Amino acid sequence: MAARGVGLLTHLPLRAQRSQGLRPSLRLLSCPGTVAADVRKEEQSSGSAETGSEDKTPKKRFSEVQKERREQAQRSVLIHFPNKISEKKFLKYLSQHGPVNNHFFYESFGLYAVVEFCQKESVASLQSVTRTPSLGTEAAIPFRSRCFHLKLKNASNQTAEQSCISRSNQSPPSSKKLFELLCDAESIDDQLNTLLKEFQLTEENTKLRYFTSSLIEDIAAAYFPDCAVRPFGSSVNGFGKLGCDLDMFLDLDEIGKFSDHKTLGNFLMEFQVKNVPSERIATQKILSVIGECLDHFGPGCVGVQKILNARCPLVRFSHQASGFQCDLTTNNRIALKSSELLYIYGALDSRVRALVFSIRCWARAHSLTSSIPGAWITNFSLTMMVIFFLQRRSPPILPTLDYLKSLADAEDKCVIEGHNCTFVCDLNRIKPSGNTETLELLLKEFFEYFGNFAFNKNSINIRQGREQNKPEPSPLHIQNPFETSLNISKNVSQSQLQKFVDLARESAWILHQEVNDHPSPSNKLWGLAALLLPSVAKNVSQAKRKKKKPASERVKNLLESIKSSSSTENSTNTNGTRTVTTQA
Ligand code: CTP
Ligand code: MG
Repeated sequence: MAARGVGLLTHLPLRAQRSQGLRPSLRLLSCPGTVAADVRKEEQSSGSAETGSEDKTPKKRFSEVQKERREQAQRSVLIHFPNKISEKKFLKYLSQHGPVNNHFFYESFGLYAVVEFCQKESVASLQSVTRTPSLGTEAAIPFRSRCFHLKLKNASNQTAEQSCISRSNQSPPSSKKLFELLCDAESIDDQLNTLLKEFQLTEENTKLRYFTSSLIEDIAAAYFPDCAVRPFGSSVNGFGKLGCDLDMFLDLDEIGKFSDHKTLGNFLMEFQVKNVPSERIATQKILSVIGECLDHFGPGCVGVQKILNARCPLVRFSHQASGFQCDLTTNNRIALKSSELLYIYGALDSRVRALVFSIRCWARAHSLTSSIPGAWITNFSLTMMVIFFLQRRSPPILPTLDYLKSLADAEDKCVIEGHNCTFVCDLNRIKPSGNTETLELLLKEFFEYFGNFAFNKNSINIRQGREQNKPEPSPLHIQNPFETSLNISKNVSQSQLQKFVDLARESAWILHQEVNDHPSPSNKLWGLAALLLPSVAKNVSQAKRKKKKPASERVKNLLESIKSSSSTENSTNTNGTRTVTTQA
Protein backbone atom coordinates (compact mmCIF):
# COMPACT_ATOMS: atom_id res chain seq x y z
CA MET A 1 0.00 0.00 0.00
CA ALA A 2 2.92 2.29 -0.52
CA ALA A 3 2.05 5.75 -1.69
CA ARG A 4 2.28 6.10 -5.41
CA GLY A 5 1.66 9.69 -6.27
CA VAL A 6 1.94 11.28 -9.64
CA GLY A 7 4.93 13.57 -9.93
CA LEU A 8 4.39 16.92 -11.54
CA LEU A 9 6.19 19.09 -14.00
CA THR A 10 9.84 18.13 -13.77
CA HIS A 11 8.95 14.81 -12.18
CA LEU A 12 6.47 13.59 -14.74
CA PRO A 13 8.85 12.23 -17.36
CA LEU A 14 10.81 10.45 -14.64
CA ARG A 15 7.70 8.75 -13.32
CA ALA A 16 6.66 7.82 -16.82
CA GLN A 17 10.06 6.25 -17.45
CA ARG A 18 9.98 4.38 -14.18
CA SER A 19 6.60 2.87 -14.91
CA GLN A 20 7.33 1.98 -18.54
CA GLY A 21 8.44 -1.51 -17.60
CA LEU A 22 5.01 -2.59 -16.55
CA ARG A 23 2.61 0.18 -17.34
CA PRO A 24 2.48 2.45 -20.33
CA SER A 25 0.36 5.54 -19.88
CA LEU A 26 -3.32 4.72 -19.99
CA ARG A 27 -5.18 6.26 -22.88
CA LEU A 28 -8.91 5.90 -22.78
CA LEU A 29 -10.90 5.97 -25.93
CA SER A 30 -14.49 6.90 -25.39
CA CYS A 31 -17.64 6.33 -27.37
CA PRO A 32 -19.86 9.32 -28.09
CA GLY A 33 -23.38 8.88 -26.80
CA THR A 34 -22.32 6.27 -24.25
CA VAL A 35 -21.38 6.46 -20.62
CA ALA A 36 -17.99 7.97 -21.44
CA ALA A 37 -19.62 11.00 -22.97
CA ASP A 38 -21.95 11.35 -19.98
CA VAL A 39 -18.98 11.04 -17.72
CA ARG A 40 -17.20 13.89 -19.44
CA LYS A 41 -20.19 16.07 -18.67
CA GLU A 42 -20.05 14.93 -15.05
CA GLU A 43 -16.34 15.65 -14.86
CA GLN A 44 -16.85 19.11 -16.23
CA SER A 45 -19.33 19.85 -13.51
CA SER A 46 -17.25 18.27 -10.76
CA GLY A 47 -14.22 20.22 -11.90
CA SER A 48 -15.91 23.56 -11.47
CA ALA A 49 -15.95 23.17 -7.72
CA GLU A 50 -16.39 26.72 -6.49
CA THR A 51 -17.03 27.76 -2.93
CA GLY A 52 -20.70 28.36 -2.37
CA SER A 53 -21.85 26.53 -5.53
CA GLU A 54 -22.34 23.12 -3.95
CA ASP A 55 -24.36 20.49 -5.77
CA LYS A 56 -27.69 20.16 -4.00
CA THR A 57 -28.54 16.67 -5.31
CA PRO A 58 -28.53 13.98 -2.58
CA LYS A 59 -25.15 12.34 -2.28
CA LYS A 60 -24.84 8.57 -2.35
CA ARG A 61 -23.58 6.61 0.61
CA PHE A 62 -20.22 4.92 0.21
CA SER A 63 -21.84 1.50 0.59
CA GLU A 64 -24.34 2.31 -2.18
CA VAL A 65 -21.56 3.38 -4.55
CA GLN A 66 -19.55 0.25 -3.76
CA LYS A 67 -22.53 -2.03 -4.28
CA GLU A 68 -23.54 -0.42 -7.56
CA ARG A 69 -20.04 -0.43 -8.99
CA ARG A 70 -19.31 -4.00 -7.89
CA GLU A 71 -22.45 -5.16 -9.59
CA GLN A 72 -21.57 -3.27 -12.80
CA ALA A 73 -18.08 -4.79 -12.72
CA GLN A 74 -19.46 -8.31 -12.42
CA ARG A 75 -21.47 -7.79 -15.62
CA SER A 76 -18.39 -6.56 -17.47
CA VAL A 77 -15.72 -8.15 -19.64
CA LEU A 78 -12.35 -6.97 -20.88
CA ILE A 79 -11.50 -7.55 -24.52
CA HIS A 80 -8.11 -7.09 -26.12
CA PHE A 81 -8.55 -6.58 -29.81
CA PRO A 82 -6.61 -5.81 -32.93
CA ASN A 83 -6.15 -2.20 -33.99
CA LYS A 84 -8.13 -2.87 -37.11
CA ILE A 85 -11.69 -3.18 -35.98
CA SER A 86 -15.07 -1.78 -36.74
CA GLU A 87 -16.68 -0.63 -33.50
CA LYS A 88 -20.14 -1.16 -34.94
CA LYS A 89 -19.44 -4.76 -35.95
CA PHE A 90 -17.70 -5.42 -32.67
CA LEU A 91 -20.76 -4.30 -30.68
CA LYS A 92 -23.12 -6.18 -32.97
CA TYR A 93 -21.07 -9.33 -32.48
CA LEU A 94 -21.16 -8.94 -28.68
CA SER A 95 -24.86 -8.17 -28.55
CA GLN A 96 -25.52 -11.75 -29.68
CA HIS A 97 -24.92 -12.54 -26.02
CA GLY A 98 -27.26 -9.88 -24.70
CA PRO A 99 -27.68 -6.10 -24.70
CA VAL A 100 -24.61 -3.98 -23.94
CA ASN A 101 -25.16 -1.28 -21.31
CA ASN A 102 -22.04 0.71 -22.07
CA HIS A 103 -18.45 0.31 -23.18
CA PHE A 104 -15.23 2.23 -23.51
CA PHE A 105 -11.86 1.75 -25.17
CA TYR A 106 -8.39 2.38 -23.83
CA GLU A 107 -4.78 1.66 -24.71
CA SER A 108 -2.40 -0.29 -22.50
CA PHE A 109 -0.08 -2.72 -24.32
CA GLY A 110 -2.53 -2.61 -27.21
CA LEU A 111 -6.18 -1.72 -27.53
CA TYR A 112 -8.73 -2.84 -24.97
CA ALA A 113 -12.45 -2.46 -24.50
CA VAL A 114 -14.35 -2.77 -21.24
CA VAL A 115 -17.85 -3.86 -22.10
CA GLU A 116 -20.62 -3.81 -19.54
CA PHE A 117 -23.55 -6.05 -20.42
CA CYS A 118 -27.02 -5.34 -19.06
CA GLN A 119 -27.21 -8.85 -17.62
CA LYS A 120 -24.68 -11.07 -15.92
CA GLU A 121 -25.84 -14.07 -17.97
CA SER A 122 -24.36 -12.47 -21.10
CA VAL A 123 -20.88 -12.96 -19.64
CA ALA A 124 -21.49 -16.71 -19.24
CA SER A 125 -22.92 -16.82 -22.76
CA LEU A 126 -19.78 -15.19 -24.18
CA GLN A 127 -17.57 -17.53 -22.15
CA SER A 128 -19.46 -20.54 -23.47
CA VAL A 129 -18.46 -19.77 -27.08
CA THR A 130 -14.88 -18.80 -26.25
CA ARG A 131 -12.07 -21.25 -26.86
CA THR A 132 -8.76 -21.71 -25.07
CA PRO A 133 -5.96 -20.79 -27.50
CA SER A 134 -3.59 -23.39 -28.83
CA LEU A 135 -0.13 -21.94 -28.51
CA GLY A 136 2.15 -24.16 -30.55
CA THR A 137 5.30 -24.78 -28.50
CA GLU A 138 3.91 -23.36 -25.22
CA ALA A 139 1.00 -24.74 -23.22
CA ALA A 140 -1.99 -22.68 -22.07
CA ILE A 141 -3.52 -23.03 -18.62
CA PRO A 142 -7.22 -23.33 -19.44
CA PHE A 143 -8.44 -20.68 -16.99
CA ARG A 144 -11.78 -19.19 -18.07
CA SER A 145 -11.66 -15.59 -16.93
CA ARG A 146 -13.54 -12.50 -18.13
CA CYS A 147 -10.52 -11.31 -20.13
CA PHE A 148 -10.63 -12.16 -23.81
CA HIS A 149 -8.68 -11.73 -27.03
CA LEU A 150 -10.75 -10.96 -30.09
CA LYS A 151 -9.28 -12.30 -33.29
CA LEU A 152 -10.37 -11.33 -36.77
CA LYS A 153 -11.23 -14.07 -39.23
CA ASN A 154 -10.87 -11.68 -42.15
CA ALA A 155 -8.93 -8.51 -41.27
CA SER A 156 -9.30 -6.80 -44.66
CA ASN A 157 -13.12 -6.48 -44.29
CA GLN A 158 -12.75 -4.35 -41.17
CA THR A 159 -10.23 -1.69 -42.15
CA ALA A 160 -12.68 0.67 -43.85
CA GLU A 161 -14.71 1.23 -40.68
CA GLN A 162 -12.01 1.32 -38.05
CA SER A 163 -11.93 5.11 -37.90
CA CYS A 164 -15.36 5.02 -36.17
CA ILE A 165 -13.68 4.59 -32.79
CA SER A 166 -13.43 7.99 -31.17
CA ARG A 167 -10.45 8.49 -28.93
CA SER A 168 -10.08 10.59 -25.85
CA ASN A 169 -6.94 10.78 -23.80
CA GLN A 170 -7.48 10.22 -20.10
CA SER A 171 -3.87 10.29 -18.93
CA PRO A 172 -2.77 13.04 -16.58
CA PRO A 173 -1.61 16.09 -18.52
CA SER A 174 1.99 16.39 -19.61
CA SER A 175 4.13 18.72 -17.52
CA LYS A 176 4.05 21.29 -20.33
CA LYS A 177 0.26 21.11 -20.62
CA LEU A 178 -0.20 21.38 -16.88
CA PHE A 179 2.12 24.36 -16.71
CA GLU A 180 0.10 26.08 -19.44
CA LEU A 181 -3.22 25.28 -17.82
CA LEU A 182 -2.10 26.57 -14.44
CA CYS A 183 -0.57 29.73 -15.83
CA ASP A 184 -3.66 30.47 -17.93
CA ALA A 185 -5.94 30.17 -14.91
CA GLU A 186 -7.73 33.23 -13.59
CA SER A 187 -6.88 32.86 -9.95
CA ILE A 188 -5.18 30.53 -7.52
CA ASP A 189 -8.60 29.06 -6.73
CA ASP A 190 -9.00 28.36 -10.42
CA GLN A 191 -5.57 26.72 -10.47
CA LEU A 192 -6.45 24.35 -7.64
CA ASN A 193 -9.71 23.37 -9.31
CA THR A 194 -7.91 22.86 -12.65
CA LEU A 195 -5.37 20.57 -11.03
CA LEU A 196 -8.17 18.55 -9.43
CA LYS A 197 -9.98 18.23 -12.74
CA GLU A 198 -6.87 17.09 -14.60
CA PHE A 199 -5.64 14.58 -12.02
CA GLN A 200 -8.75 13.05 -10.48
CA LEU A 201 -9.71 9.52 -11.51
CA THR A 202 -12.00 9.52 -14.50
CA GLU A 203 -15.22 7.53 -14.49
CA GLU A 204 -13.64 4.98 -16.85
CA ASN A 205 -10.56 4.64 -14.69
CA THR A 206 -12.75 4.06 -11.64
CA LYS A 207 -14.73 1.43 -13.55
CA LEU A 208 -11.52 -0.29 -14.53
CA ARG A 209 -10.47 -0.39 -10.86
CA TYR A 210 -13.71 -2.06 -9.77
CA PHE A 211 -13.50 -4.37 -12.76
CA THR A 212 -9.93 -5.43 -11.92
CA SER A 213 -11.01 -6.11 -8.32
CA SER A 214 -13.83 -8.29 -9.58
CA LEU A 215 -11.38 -10.29 -11.73
CA ILE A 216 -9.28 -10.97 -8.64
CA GLU A 217 -12.47 -11.93 -6.84
CA ASP A 218 -13.16 -14.54 -9.53
CA ILE A 219 -9.78 -16.13 -8.79
CA ALA A 220 -10.19 -16.03 -4.99
CA ALA A 221 -13.71 -17.42 -5.39
CA ALA A 222 -12.21 -20.70 -6.62
CA TYR A 223 -11.36 -21.32 -2.93
CA PHE A 224 -13.85 -19.06 -1.17
CA PRO A 225 -17.00 -18.98 -3.32
CA ASP A 226 -18.77 -16.25 -1.36
CA CYS A 227 -15.80 -13.94 -0.89
CA ALA A 228 -15.68 -10.34 -2.10
CA VAL A 229 -12.63 -8.42 -3.27
CA ARG A 230 -13.23 -4.77 -2.48
CA PRO A 231 -11.13 -1.84 -3.67
CA PHE A 232 -10.24 0.65 -0.92
CA GLY A 233 -7.82 3.55 -0.36
CA SER A 234 -7.45 6.28 -2.94
CA SER A 235 -9.13 4.24 -5.72
CA VAL A 236 -12.46 4.76 -3.94
CA ASN A 237 -12.10 7.51 -1.33
CA GLY A 238 -12.22 10.42 -3.79
CA PHE A 239 -8.54 11.34 -3.38
CA GLY A 240 -7.04 9.08 -6.06
CA LYS A 241 -4.88 10.61 -8.77
CA LEU A 242 -4.62 8.99 -12.21
CA GLY A 243 -1.86 6.43 -11.84
CA CYS A 244 -2.37 5.67 -8.12
CA ASP A 245 -2.13 2.08 -6.93
CA LEU A 246 -5.12 -0.23 -6.57
CA ASP A 247 -5.56 -1.36 -2.96
CA MET A 248 -7.85 -4.36 -2.58
CA PHE A 249 -9.18 -6.23 0.38
CA LEU A 250 -10.23 -9.88 0.27
CA ASP A 251 -13.36 -9.90 2.37
CA LEU A 252 -14.14 -13.34 3.76
CA ASP A 253 -16.69 -12.10 6.28
CA GLU A 254 -19.50 -12.55 3.78
CA ILE A 255 -18.95 -16.30 4.10
CA GLY A 256 -19.71 -16.22 7.82
CA LYS A 257 -22.84 -14.16 7.31
CA PHE A 258 -24.65 -16.87 5.36
CA SER A 259 -24.49 -19.32 8.23
CA ASP A 260 -26.34 -16.88 10.56
CA HIS A 261 -29.57 -17.41 8.66
CA LYS A 262 -29.45 -21.18 8.76
CA THR A 263 -29.72 -21.86 12.46
CA LEU A 264 -32.95 -23.81 12.76
CA GLY A 265 -34.38 -25.41 15.92
CA ASN A 266 -31.93 -26.61 18.52
CA PHE A 267 -29.18 -27.37 16.08
CA LEU A 268 -26.23 -25.26 15.08
CA MET A 269 -24.26 -26.47 12.12
CA GLU A 270 -20.59 -25.55 11.77
CA PHE A 271 -18.03 -26.28 9.07
CA GLN A 272 -15.15 -28.51 9.91
CA VAL A 273 -12.12 -26.32 9.42
CA LYS A 274 -8.37 -26.32 9.84
CA ASN A 275 -7.19 -24.45 12.89
CA VAL A 276 -4.05 -22.32 12.93
CA PRO A 277 -2.42 -20.62 15.94
CA SER A 278 -3.45 -17.03 15.15
CA GLU A 279 -5.49 -14.75 12.91
CA ARG A 280 -2.25 -13.46 11.41
CA ILE A 281 -1.15 -16.95 10.40
CA ALA A 282 -4.58 -17.58 8.85
CA THR A 283 -4.19 -14.35 6.85
CA GLN A 284 -0.70 -15.33 5.71
CA LYS A 285 -1.85 -18.77 4.60
CA ILE A 286 -4.81 -17.43 2.65
CA LEU A 287 -2.78 -14.72 0.94
CA SER A 288 0.00 -17.14 0.15
CA VAL A 289 -2.37 -19.44 -1.75
CA ILE A 290 -4.17 -16.58 -3.53
CA GLY A 291 -0.77 -15.13 -4.48
CA GLU A 292 0.21 -18.48 -6.03
CA CYS A 293 -3.08 -18.58 -7.96
CA LEU A 294 -2.59 -15.06 -9.29
CA ASP A 295 0.93 -15.93 -10.34
CA HIS A 296 0.03 -19.20 -12.04
CA PHE A 297 -3.48 -18.65 -13.38
CA GLY A 298 -4.29 -14.93 -13.37
CA PRO A 299 -4.23 -13.58 -16.94
CA GLY A 300 -2.00 -10.51 -17.01
CA CYS A 301 -1.01 -10.74 -13.32
CA VAL A 302 2.77 -10.31 -13.34
CA GLY A 303 5.53 -9.60 -10.85
CA VAL A 304 3.63 -11.26 -8.00
CA GLN A 305 5.35 -10.70 -4.63
CA LYS A 306 4.08 -12.18 -1.39
CA ILE A 307 4.94 -9.72 1.38
CA LEU A 308 3.59 -11.79 4.22
CA ASN A 309 5.77 -10.59 7.10
CA ALA A 310 4.61 -6.95 6.86
CA ARG A 311 2.47 -5.54 9.70
CA CYS A 312 -0.41 -5.91 7.28
CA PRO A 313 0.49 -8.94 5.08
CA LEU A 314 -0.14 -8.39 1.38
CA VAL A 315 0.32 -9.71 -2.13
CA ARG A 316 1.68 -7.11 -4.58
CA PHE A 317 1.48 -7.51 -8.35
CA SER A 318 0.98 -5.66 -11.59
CA HIS A 319 -2.13 -6.17 -13.63
CA GLN A 320 -0.95 -5.69 -17.19
CA ALA A 321 -4.25 -5.17 -18.98
CA SER A 322 -5.40 -2.40 -16.66
CA GLY A 323 -1.93 -1.05 -16.01
CA PHE A 324 -2.55 -0.99 -12.23
CA GLN A 325 -0.02 -1.73 -9.54
CA CYS A 326 -2.09 -3.80 -7.10
CA ASP A 327 -1.89 -4.55 -3.38
CA LEU A 328 -4.15 -7.31 -2.10
CA THR A 329 -4.72 -7.67 1.65
CA THR A 330 -7.23 -9.54 3.73
CA ASN A 331 -8.59 -9.00 7.20
CA ASN A 332 -8.32 -5.25 6.59
CA ARG A 333 -11.86 -4.08 7.21
CA ILE A 334 -10.76 -1.04 9.23
CA ALA A 335 -8.92 0.37 6.20
CA LEU A 336 -12.14 0.04 4.21
CA LYS A 337 -13.91 1.99 6.95
CA SER A 338 -11.26 4.72 6.85
CA SER A 339 -11.75 4.90 3.07
CA GLU A 340 -15.44 5.50 3.74
CA LEU A 341 -14.59 8.22 6.24
CA LEU A 342 -12.32 9.98 3.73
CA TYR A 343 -15.00 9.61 1.06
CA ILE A 344 -17.41 11.45 3.37
CA TYR A 345 -14.90 14.20 4.16
CA GLY A 346 -14.09 14.62 0.46
CA ALA A 347 -17.74 14.84 -0.52
CA LEU A 348 -18.79 17.28 2.22
CA ASP A 349 -17.19 20.39 0.75
CA SER A 350 -15.80 20.93 -2.75
CA ARG A 351 -12.70 22.66 -1.37
CA VAL A 352 -11.48 19.51 0.41
CA ARG A 353 -10.49 17.48 -2.65
CA ALA A 354 -9.07 20.50 -4.46
CA LEU A 355 -6.81 21.27 -1.51
CA VAL A 356 -5.79 17.64 -0.92
CA PHE A 357 -4.90 17.12 -4.59
CA SER A 358 -2.76 20.23 -4.63
CA ILE A 359 -0.96 19.30 -1.43
CA ARG A 360 -0.39 15.73 -2.68
CA CYS A 361 0.96 17.06 -6.00
CA TRP A 362 3.08 19.64 -4.21
CA ALA A 363 4.56 16.94 -1.96
CA ARG A 364 5.28 14.69 -4.94
CA ALA A 365 6.89 17.51 -6.91
CA HIS A 366 9.30 18.14 -4.03
CA SER A 367 9.98 14.42 -3.44
CA LEU A 368 8.35 14.54 -0.03
CA THR A 369 6.38 11.44 -1.06
CA SER A 370 7.76 8.50 -2.98
CA SER A 371 6.64 5.29 -4.63
CA ILE A 372 9.38 3.48 -2.71
CA PRO A 373 8.55 2.57 0.91
CA GLY A 374 10.74 4.47 3.36
CA ALA A 375 10.88 7.35 5.81
CA TRP A 376 8.74 9.60 3.61
CA ILE A 377 5.41 11.05 4.47
CA THR A 378 2.52 9.25 2.69
CA ASN A 379 -0.42 10.61 0.74
CA PHE A 380 -2.72 9.15 3.39
CA SER A 381 -0.93 11.16 6.10
CA LEU A 382 -1.07 14.33 3.99
CA THR A 383 -4.81 13.87 3.54
CA MET A 384 -5.23 13.55 7.30
CA MET A 385 -3.23 16.74 7.78
CA VAL A 386 -5.48 18.64 5.37
CA ILE A 387 -8.61 17.30 7.07
CA PHE A 388 -7.23 18.29 10.47
CA PHE A 389 -6.32 21.77 9.18
CA LEU A 390 -9.86 22.21 7.79
CA GLN A 391 -11.32 21.15 11.14
CA ARG A 392 -9.25 23.93 12.77
CA ARG A 393 -10.63 26.76 10.62
CA SER A 394 -13.04 29.23 12.09
CA PRO A 395 -15.80 28.37 11.48
CA PRO A 396 -14.63 24.78 10.79
CA ILE A 397 -14.89 23.57 7.20
CA LEU A 398 -14.99 19.92 8.28
CA PRO A 399 -16.54 18.36 11.39
CA THR A 400 -14.57 16.22 13.81
CA LEU A 401 -14.90 12.44 13.73
CA ASP A 402 -16.45 12.57 17.20
CA TYR A 403 -19.15 14.86 15.81
CA LEU A 404 -19.80 12.44 12.92
CA LYS A 405 -20.08 9.69 15.52
CA SER A 406 -22.63 11.71 17.48
CA LEU A 407 -24.82 11.89 14.35
CA ALA A 408 -24.77 8.11 13.84
CA ASP A 409 -27.91 6.04 14.26
CA ALA A 410 -28.31 2.35 15.13
CA GLU A 411 -27.77 1.31 11.50
CA ASP A 412 -24.38 3.08 11.41
CA LYS A 413 -23.01 1.25 14.44
CA CYS A 414 -19.77 -0.46 13.53
CA VAL A 415 -17.24 -2.15 15.80
CA ILE A 416 -14.31 -3.91 14.12
CA GLU A 417 -11.93 -6.04 16.17
CA GLY A 418 -12.93 -4.11 19.27
CA HIS A 419 -12.42 -0.69 17.66
CA ASN A 420 -15.37 1.62 17.51
CA CYS A 421 -15.63 2.71 13.88
CA THR A 422 -19.08 4.26 14.16
CA PHE A 423 -19.92 7.46 12.29
CA VAL A 424 -22.86 8.74 10.29
CA CYS A 425 -22.89 7.13 6.85
CA ASP A 426 -25.57 9.32 5.26
CA LEU A 427 -23.74 12.42 4.08
CA ASN A 428 -26.98 14.28 3.59
CA ARG A 429 -27.45 14.42 7.34
CA ILE A 430 -24.30 16.48 7.86
CA LYS A 431 -24.84 20.24 7.80
CA PRO A 432 -22.59 22.08 5.33
CA SER A 433 -20.04 24.51 6.75
CA GLY A 434 -20.75 28.23 6.80
CA ASN A 435 -17.08 28.94 6.14
CA THR A 436 -16.51 30.72 2.81
CA GLU A 437 -12.72 31.03 2.74
CA THR A 438 -11.08 30.83 -0.67
CA LEU A 439 -8.79 28.02 -1.75
CA GLU A 440 -6.01 30.56 -2.14
CA LEU A 441 -6.28 31.58 1.48
CA LEU A 442 -6.59 27.97 2.64
CA LEU A 443 -3.53 26.88 0.68
CA LYS A 444 -1.45 29.71 2.08
CA GLU A 445 -2.67 29.12 5.61
CA PHE A 446 -2.12 25.36 5.32
CA PHE A 447 1.56 26.00 4.67
CA GLU A 448 1.72 28.59 7.40
CA TYR A 449 -0.09 26.35 9.90
CA PHE A 450 2.16 23.36 9.35
CA GLY A 451 5.23 25.53 8.88
CA ASN A 452 4.71 26.54 12.52
CA PHE A 453 3.15 23.38 14.00
CA ALA A 454 4.70 22.12 17.24
CA PHE A 455 5.45 18.65 15.83
CA ASN A 456 7.87 18.03 18.69
CA LYS A 457 5.09 17.93 21.28
CA ASN A 458 1.76 17.71 19.48
CA SER A 459 -0.17 14.97 17.73
CA ILE A 460 -2.66 15.40 14.86
CA ASN A 461 -5.99 13.93 15.74
CA ILE A 462 -9.01 14.19 13.43
CA ARG A 463 -11.23 12.44 15.97
CA GLN A 464 -11.20 15.42 18.28
CA GLY A 465 -10.03 18.00 15.75
CA ARG A 466 -7.49 19.50 18.10
CA GLU A 467 -3.83 19.21 18.83
CA GLN A 468 -2.98 16.72 21.55
CA ASN A 469 0.16 15.78 23.43
CA LYS A 470 2.13 13.15 21.54
CA PRO A 471 1.84 9.75 23.25
CA GLU A 472 5.18 8.57 21.81
CA PRO A 473 8.32 10.25 20.52
CA SER A 474 8.01 9.67 16.72
CA PRO A 475 8.88 12.90 14.86
CA LEU A 476 5.42 13.02 13.25
CA HIS A 477 2.39 11.69 15.10
CA ILE A 478 -0.93 11.35 13.29
CA GLN A 479 -3.39 9.24 15.20
CA ASN A 480 -5.10 6.46 13.26
CA PRO A 481 -8.77 7.50 13.44
CA PHE A 482 -10.02 4.07 14.49
CA GLU A 483 -7.06 2.16 15.86
CA THR A 484 -6.29 5.08 18.12
CA SER A 485 -3.13 3.57 19.62
CA LEU A 486 -1.51 3.57 16.16
CA ASN A 487 0.45 6.38 14.53
CA ILE A 488 -0.14 6.35 10.76
CA SER A 489 3.11 8.26 10.15
CA LYS A 490 5.40 6.29 12.43
CA ASN A 491 7.77 5.72 9.51
CA VAL A 492 8.51 9.42 8.97
CA SER A 493 12.06 10.44 9.96
CA GLN A 494 13.03 13.73 11.60
CA SER A 495 14.87 14.82 8.45
CA GLN A 496 11.84 14.15 6.22
CA LEU A 497 9.63 16.05 8.63
CA GLN A 498 12.09 18.95 8.64
CA LYS A 499 12.09 18.95 4.84
CA PHE A 500 8.29 19.15 4.91
CA VAL A 501 8.37 22.05 7.37
CA ASP A 502 11.03 23.94 5.39
CA LEU A 503 9.10 23.51 2.14
CA ALA A 504 5.83 24.52 3.80
CA ARG A 505 7.48 27.75 5.03
CA GLU A 506 9.05 28.34 1.66
CA SER A 507 5.69 27.85 -0.07
CA ALA A 508 3.91 30.19 2.36
CA TRP A 509 6.59 32.75 1.51
CA ILE A 510 6.16 32.25 -2.26
CA LEU A 511 2.38 32.60 -2.00
CA HIS A 512 2.78 35.67 0.14
CA GLN A 513 5.06 37.21 -2.49
CA GLU A 514 2.50 36.28 -5.16
CA VAL A 515 -0.09 38.52 -3.61
CA ASN A 516 2.23 41.47 -4.19
CA ASP A 517 3.74 40.50 -7.55
CA HIS A 518 0.95 39.00 -9.68
CA PRO A 519 -0.19 39.78 -12.32
CA SER A 520 3.09 40.65 -13.96
CA PRO A 521 3.97 39.71 -17.56
CA SER A 522 7.47 38.67 -16.52
CA ASN A 523 6.12 36.48 -13.73
CA LYS A 524 4.95 33.53 -15.81
CA LEU A 525 5.22 30.95 -13.10
CA TRP A 526 2.73 32.15 -10.61
CA GLY A 527 0.58 30.73 -7.84
CA LEU A 528 0.35 26.96 -7.73
CA ALA A 529 2.66 26.59 -10.77
CA ALA A 530 5.42 28.35 -8.84
CA LEU A 531 4.90 26.02 -5.89
CA LEU A 532 5.04 22.86 -7.97
CA LEU A 533 8.34 23.58 -9.66
CA PRO A 534 11.15 22.38 -7.42
CA SER A 535 13.65 24.40 -9.44
CA VAL A 536 11.67 27.56 -8.76
CA ALA A 537 11.55 26.83 -5.08
CA LYS A 538 15.29 26.34 -5.15
CA ASN A 539 15.88 29.52 -7.13
CA VAL A 540 13.76 31.53 -4.77
CA SER A 541 15.55 30.01 -1.87
CA GLN A 542 18.95 30.79 -3.41
CA ALA A 543 17.91 34.35 -4.15
CA LYS A 544 16.74 34.74 -0.60
CA ARG A 545 19.93 33.31 0.77
CA LYS A 546 21.87 36.01 -1.06
CA LYS A 547 20.19 38.61 1.11
CA LYS A 548 21.86 39.52 4.39
CA LYS A 549 19.34 38.35 6.97
CA PRO A 550 19.49 34.68 8.04
CA ALA A 551 16.75 32.64 6.32
CA SER A 552 15.11 31.54 9.56
CA GLU A 553 14.74 35.14 10.74
CA ARG A 554 13.41 36.30 7.38
CA VAL A 555 10.86 33.45 7.15
CA LYS A 556 9.81 34.14 10.73
CA ASN A 557 9.27 37.83 9.96
CA LEU A 558 7.34 37.00 6.84
CA LEU A 559 5.13 34.52 8.60
CA GLU A 560 4.49 37.11 11.29
CA SER A 561 3.49 39.63 8.64
CA ILE A 562 1.22 37.08 6.93
CA LYS A 563 -0.38 36.36 10.29
CA SER A 564 -1.00 40.00 11.07
CA SER A 565 -2.57 40.56 7.66
CA SER A 566 -4.60 37.36 7.53
CA SER A 567 -7.41 38.76 9.66
CA THR A 568 -7.94 41.47 7.03
CA GLU A 569 -7.85 38.85 4.25
CA ASN A 570 -10.38 36.66 6.04
CA SER A 571 -12.93 39.38 6.03
CA THR A 572 -12.31 40.78 2.56
CA ASN A 573 -11.00 38.11 0.23
CA THR A 574 -13.64 35.46 -0.06
CA ASN A 575 -14.35 35.46 -3.76
CA GLY A 576 -11.24 33.77 -5.10
CA THR A 577 -9.93 36.84 -6.95
CA ARG A 578 -6.41 38.08 -6.49
CA THR A 579 -7.14 41.45 -4.99
CA VAL A 580 -5.70 41.05 -1.52
CA THR A 581 -3.02 43.44 -0.41
CA THR A 582 -1.04 42.69 2.69
CA GLN A 583 1.75 44.54 4.37
CA ALA A 584 4.99 42.80 3.54
N1 CTP B 1 -3.96 2.88 5.66
C1 CTP B 1 -4.06 2.92 7.05
N2 CTP B 1 -2.95 3.16 7.81
C2 CTP B 1 -1.76 3.37 7.23
C3 CTP B 1 -1.63 3.33 5.83
C4 CTP B 1 -2.77 3.08 5.07
O1 CTP B 1 -5.16 2.77 7.57
N3 CTP B 1 -0.70 3.61 7.98
C5 CTP B 1 -5.17 2.62 4.86
C6 CTP B 1 -5.89 3.91 4.46
O2 CTP B 1 -7.27 3.66 4.42
C7 CTP B 1 -5.37 4.19 3.06
C8 CTP B 1 -5.25 2.76 2.54
O3 CTP B 1 -4.82 1.98 3.65
O4 CTP B 1 -6.24 4.99 2.30
C9 CTP B 1 -4.33 2.57 1.37
O5 CTP B 1 -3.02 2.99 1.72
P1 CTP B 1 -2.10 3.71 0.67
O6 CTP B 1 -2.15 2.99 -0.63
O7 CTP B 1 -0.77 3.90 1.31
O8 CTP B 1 -2.73 5.16 0.56
P2 CTP B 1 -3.84 5.74 -0.38
O9 CTP B 1 -4.79 6.51 0.47
O10 CTP B 1 -4.43 4.68 -1.23
O11 CTP B 1 -3.03 6.79 -1.27
P3 CTP B 1 -2.14 6.54 -2.59
O12 CTP B 1 -2.85 7.29 -3.65
O13 CTP B 1 -0.82 7.11 -2.26
O14 CTP B 1 -2.07 5.07 -2.85
MG1 MG C 1 -3.25 3.39 -2.40
